[in-house]
Amino acid sequence: MRVEQSMLSMRNISKAFNGITVLDSVDFSVKKGEVHALMGGNGAGKSTLMKILTGVYTADQGEIYIDDQLVEIKNTDDARKNYISMIFQEFSLIPTLTVAQNIFLTREDKTSIGLLNDKECIAKTRKLLQDLEVDIDPNELVGNLGVGYWQMTEIAKALSQETKILVMDEPTASLTKKETEILFSFINQLKSKGYAIIYISHRMDEILEICDRITILRDGKHVATEDCKQIDLDMVIQHIVGSGMDKAFEWVERDYDKNTAPVLEVKNLSLGSKVQDVSFNLFPGEIVGIAGLMGSGRTETVSAIFGTGPKDSGDIIVKGEKKTIKNASDAVKAGLALIPEDRRVQGLVLEHSVKENIMLPILSKMQKGLLIDDKKANKVANDFVKKLNIKTDDIYKTTNLLSGGNQQKIVLAKWLANDPSVLMLDEPTIGVDIGAKTEIVDVIRELADSGKAILVISSELPELLALSDRVLVMHEGRIVKELQRREINTEEELQHAIQGF
Ligand SMILES: Nc1ncnc2c1ncn2[C@@H]1O[C@H](COP(=O)(O)OP(=O)(O)OP(=O)(O)O)[C@@H](O)[C@H]1O
Ligand SMILES: [Mg+2]
Repeated sequence: MRVEQSMLSMRNISKAFNGITVLDSVDFSVKKGEVHALMGGNGAGKSTLMKILTGVYTADQGEIYIDDQLVEIKNTDDARKNYISMIFQEFSLIPTLTVAQNIFLTREDKTSIGLLNDKECIAKTRKLLQDLEVDIDPNELVGNLGVGYWQMTEIAKALSQETKILVMDEPTASLTKKETEILFSFINQLKSKGYAIIYISHRMDEILEICDRITILRDGKHVATEDCKQIDLDMVIQHIVGSGMDKAFEWVERDYDKNTAPVLEVKNLSLGSKVQDVSFNLFPGEIVGIAGLMGSGRTETVSAIFGTGPKDSGDIIVKGEKKTIKNASDAVKAGLALIPEDRRVQGLVLEHSVKENIMLPILSKMQKGLLIDDKKANKVANDFVKKLNIKTDDIYKTTNLLSGGNQQKIVLAKWLANDPSVLMLDEPTIGVDIGAKTEIVDVIRELADSGKAILVISSELPELLALSDRVLVMHEGRIVKELQRREINTEEELQHAIQGF
């Protein structure tokens, strides 16, 4: 019997940073024409394994074979020579350059005087973007584009060079549903052309839709490689989490005083056709979920409340007092916090430590005389690391050395540190692993128990149902339904309400 040959085979790969083992004798292989999912908890080592493949890091031990030939990948140039491209989890684009310049930045398409040959770059970029079916002007500055378009530009950049093996590290985290569909049909095209694609994601639905096989890492070790047809969610969760996770997403009825005055009143909020006459109240200790399809006006509503997005009219009343909120700093003063959807780009100073990031919004509270009370600051930072189970060696580690999901937890910690009375979260668990999701759900419940009012937007219905005491359903800019959580029996019922049946 002929054994099907792997296009890529990584064998016995180990890697440590500062004496801490991050990858421990990992084997990983991908076939031609295969989409292979790489899963695992935050910090499991997925990005690191792929950075070894693409020459960003070198392994301490192990070999890489391509078409059964041993290859040496010591830097990104070696990876390119072996037709390996990667779309990174952290964006690698330069905002002050155009789309075309970003795509061809590190490439040889230069004229005799060594400058980028603009005309050809632009023509090639236009063709690439057309193939991807994305409507972006090659001359547009990347800084002017929305996050979804950054991702598409990253993809165009990866595909602009000859590629056989393409790594995508959480490519859909900032894409809309439509953009995701375009990406998937594109992945299918690449697959039929014989590319080997490695797809890192925390989303099971996506993996089941486009992947052929799945490999799971846990704490730097390979735990399983399975055919996607043979797997189910429970099994995958078991592999990712290890010794099991019992209470997944279970709703528990919460008790809070329903006869007090609301902490937040939103009255007749409007913004063109996007937000139409939205009114609702939030009570202390309450968790309210906003459900709705992509584009139903959820994000626009919370950003209009928080002053980071526009509004035409409407009143925001906090603790009985009408507030003028024109920007985020007005909102923070009024006791509001918003953890935005695109926090990966906005939320962190990556060169700073975990502690410094958490301290940023609360420096004034940490002062002792003219200095920062270091003991107090360390305690607060350590408490958050523990509470949110942030995987870091210590609070002094630079945040860009943490895994993507752990960086997100720091953004959450940062906003919580300021102790707001109303906390709004837009898709709070995008990019965090299944285990960490339940941790975040627990933290949100604890915050509500301590008297904060919470507003959550989530496209993941199990999460929304696990959290909310009350659900507002939005459709085309309006609140079309308000449901008490206990009235909703199944996810399907909520799904029906969202779809407008
Ligand atoms: N350059 C570095 N220096 C020190 N530690 C690092 C470095 N890069 C990664 N690590 C550590 O290695 C571990 C694995 O990180 P990695 O980014 O590979 O995780 P991941 O599986 O991609 O997680 P996520 O799903 O959160 O993106 C983490 O504990 C991280 O802090
Ligand atoms: Mg990662």
